[in-house]
Amino acid sequence: MKLTINGQLHTLDVSPDMPLLWALRDHIGLTGTKFGCGKGLCGACTVHLDGSPLRSCSIPVSFAEGKQIVTIEGLATDASHPVQKAWKDQNVPQCGYCQSGQIMSAAALLATNAAPTDAEIDAAMAGNICRCGTYPRIRSAIKQAAA
Ligand code: FES
Repeated sequence: MKLTINGQLHTLDVSPDMPLLWALRDHIGLTGTKFGCGKGLCGACTVHLDGSPLRSCSIPVSFAEGKQIVTIEGLATDASHPVQKAWKDQNVPQCGYCQSGQIMSAAALLATNAAPTDAEIDAAMAGNICRCGTYPRIRSAIKQAAA
């Protein structure tokens, strides 16, 4: 399998059915993308495929071949993406586990909607679960990044 991840081409000898999440974490070593539920329900494993946020636990690597895959490590090499900056300014993370997925969903939202309403933020982020309940700070950070 040939995967383009964060602008770099990787050749992997893995089953085409392997979830993309395992390829990223176990074969490429990009562990910023997290395993939460493994069933496409929590959003911890969110990455971008051709700019769209998708759950990497539920996508076979074969689906990602030929597409631009971006993980949290590739959003900005120095964590200077406006969403990452806002996340730091707003002290969003608590335990932090879900946050890379949250940031990837937020970045995808702002890439297509520069000034989302509260309802649009809630709709876009509804699939990203945070057991610490950082939702108010997530919304504040998205608004800051959009400003
Ligand atoms: Fe993929 Fe939960 S680990 S959605």
